[in-house]
Amino acid sequence: MVSDEPVGETVIDVRDLRVHYGEREVIHGISFDVRRGEILGVIGPAQSGKTSMLKCLNRTLEFTPGATMRGTITVDGEDVLRVRDVFGLRRKIGMVAPLPVGLPLTIYDNVAFAPRAAGLSNRADLDDIVERCLRQAALWDEVKDRLATLGTKLSGGQQQRLTIARALSHDPEILCLDEFSIAIDPVTTMRIEDVLKELRATMTILLVTNLTQQARRLADRTMFMLNGEVVELDRTDVVFSDTPGDPRTFDYVSGIVG
Ligand SMILES: Nc1ncnc2c1ncn2[C@@H]1O[C@H](COP(=O)(O)OP(=O)(O)O)[C@@H](O)[C@H]1O
Ligand SMILES: [Mg+2]
Repeated sequence: MVSDEPVGETVIDVRDLRVHYGEREVIHGISFDVRRGEILGVIGPAQSGKTSMLKCLNRTLEFTPGATMRGTITVDGEDVLRVRDVFGLRRKIGMVAPLPVGLPLTIYDNVAFAPRAAGLSNRADLDDIVERCLRQAALWDEVKDRLATLGTKLSGGQQQRLTIARALSHDPEILCLDEFSIAIDPVTTMRIEDVLKELRATMTILLVTNLTQQARRLADRTMFMLNGEVVELDRTDVVFSDTPGDPRTFDYVSGIVG
């Protein structure tokens, strides 16, 4: 499953990123890149700054009062801090949050929400998008006969797939997942991992995961974050080998710490 060295060009480039909540610095000048078509796994214990890092990419950090970012992030060469169309940036980067956060809407309306907000009203077009996204999220067969049911009536694993379908509805170029498996069972987790394997053909994926073995199964490259720093970023087989670049990586992935 680990492919050769990803050769895609840089899609996201992060340089000297610092994040503060008020006076407190929680990300201490990290740099890394995400390459087109890869799955970049991000591992690290709680509080390492993984979620804060993701929020910088699509500028949702600014929803947190008192939070600030410094440094440079470019997405497709465009500086996210200077981008004029921040909604366009957020459409380009789909985000799947740790817990299912289905809107209190029907299954159909959950997926149609973003396209409608972007001005699409033609029913046939919306039907197409809803079906495509639910299929991509491997949920279509389970819900196609009850699209008018509330999304909140679905099981946890189904809601998480609905969240993925929603993230896909604005046709993102990059899909970011933040610990998607934290509240779902192993069988559903494997199911969604299969979905990600399919999606990688068409998309760049940034997979923040609480399961180190999930990065090992899926990621082309893996980044290890600890206390607001990037300890290591390398090919997944190197990160999980007996001799990664940093001894702290070995301690973490082999379960000695964290
Ligand atoms: N909204 C917030 N306000 C203040 N501190 C925060 C906030 N969100 C996260 N933090 C702090 O930032 C650090 C990194 O957190 P986070 O980015 O959530 O890490 P991770 O996703 O790796 O668990 C932690 O020390 C956390 O307490
Ligand atoms: Mg987090």
